[in-house]
Amino acid sequence: MVRPTLPRSRGPLSQSLIDALATDVPLGAPDVDAADPYGDDLQLALYIAYELHYVGFVGVDDEREWDPEVLAFRRELERRFLDAIRAHVGTLDAPSAEAEMDELCVEPTTGDGVSFRLAEGGTWQQYRDLFALRSLYHLKEADPHAWAIPRLRGASKAAFVAVEFDEFGGGRADAVHQELFADLLAAADLSPDYLGYLDVAPGWALAPVNLMSAFGLHRSLRAAAVGHLAATEITSPTGSQRLLTGLENLDAPEACRHFYREHVEADAVHEQVLRHDVVGTLVRGEPELEVDVVFGIRAFLVVEDAFDDHLRALWEDGRHIV
Ligand SMILES: [Fe+2]
Ligand SMILES: [Fe+2]
Repeated sequence: MVRPTLPRSRGPLSQSLIDALATDVPLGAPDVDAADPYGDDLQLALYIAYELHYVGFVGVDDEREWDPEVLAFRRELERRFLDAIRAHVGTLDAPSAEAEMDELCVEPTTGDGVSFRLAEGGTWQQYRDLFALRSLYHLKEADPHAWAIPRLRGASKAAFVAVEFDEFGGGRADAVHQELFADLLAAADLSPDYLGYLDVAPGWALAPVNLMSAFGLHRSLRAAAVGHLAATEITSPTGSQRLLTGLENLDAPEACRHFYREHVEADAVHEQVLRHDVVGTLVRGEPELEVDVVFGIRAFLVVEDAFDDHLRALWEDGRHIV
């Protein structure tokens, strides 16, 4: 696999980390508390720090994944980010995972979100913006949640892995969802390169992926990772259907439609598996984890709603990503 190059910095935090990774200069102690927790600089620095656990960067030694100075810095970035998310989510009184998932299933018939807009008259340029920004996740789709696998046991683990198996193509390389998204990008005349759009992705487009990495990489947040995957799967079939409708209206290339069609069909099944066999079994066996499952769901909504709001605002300003 072709490794990505380190991105351009967006401020003092990302600059310090990029310099330290590129040249071995000491990282120092950049002031994390002065940064906007959802801003470009902090989110990019966090994305880079997490990337060391995935594919890494050309010219950066694999062992930097466990560099204590980098890990200590990552913890500071995570603390600032997760504190902001927790403040956003607020206190969870009498959390019920089932009620939370029921709520996610209540789908408005009309709405003003990105997928509604695209279904009702989205332009190809808007779709290409969405593809470029979502490539930061879909080219590593299902990888962040896979970190949670060793942290689950028994029935919830079996069901969780069954869903992940589908995401990874069910044994077929050409059906891996990451590969389907690379095909989509190529069909849309966009770069299918891993992290190909990292330099143009604002903080609000990186936060959804950073949240998943945070949940996946912390055993203490394993139930939040489960809640996050449940929220992803429950909201995917209807959202994917709207994106598919808009692509059909535009007579878009088949590879673009295929990715979303696959998600309309597969995620209708994944939704049920997550609800009953993963979350249901997990909270029955370990009721103390229910609050974290709900936190994972609410946190998903915080970052996804922000992504939606920012992308619509960008279009309303007449701006584009690509
Ligand atoms: Fe998928
Ligand atoms: Fe899925």
